[in-house]
Amino acid sequence: MQVDYATLARTIAALTEGEADAVALMATVTCEVHHADDRFDWTGFYRVVAPELLKIGPYQGGHGCLSIPFSRGVCGAAAREGKVQLVPDVDAFPGHIACASTTRSELVLPVRDGTGRLIAVFDIDSNQSDAFSQVDATALGDILHSVFGCVK
Ligand code: SME
Repeated sequence: MQVDYATLARTIAALTEGEADAVALMATVTCEVHHADDRFDWTGFYRVVAPELLKIGPYQGGHGCLSIPFSRGVCGAAAREGKVQLVPDVDAFPGHIACASTTRSELVLPVRDGTGRLIAVFDIDSNQSDAFSQVDATALGDILHSVFGCVK
């Protein structure tokens, strides 16, 4: 199944309307995104819990590592640089953290609250090589902004 981002955005907007609790929002976004596309084999959030430290949040898929410093991995790079990480081949990414040996490509986006503060990163892993495009990054970035832009 291939995601229809307009439908996904409408569904998430309806499910999260009026909600401002970050964990509830993360759990809902994770669930809906994960089940929207067969490319998505692991979907979840890593929360900023201290300067330079990420801790796992709501996710779907196999177990994920619990802590990631900003200095490590694709998630750490997204948090450190504040930029989307679009990784067509995880084996070519220096310091990639393999929570599953089957992961071939990855997309990680920074997540900011209504004040612009980095509160998490959103991570999607795929067992398919080069699974993600700028279309995915832009559409998911728009969804994350619309959902978490109300969190204070
Ligand atoms: N691959 C990520 C780690 C999180 S697991 O994929 C769920 C990284 O390199 O930061």
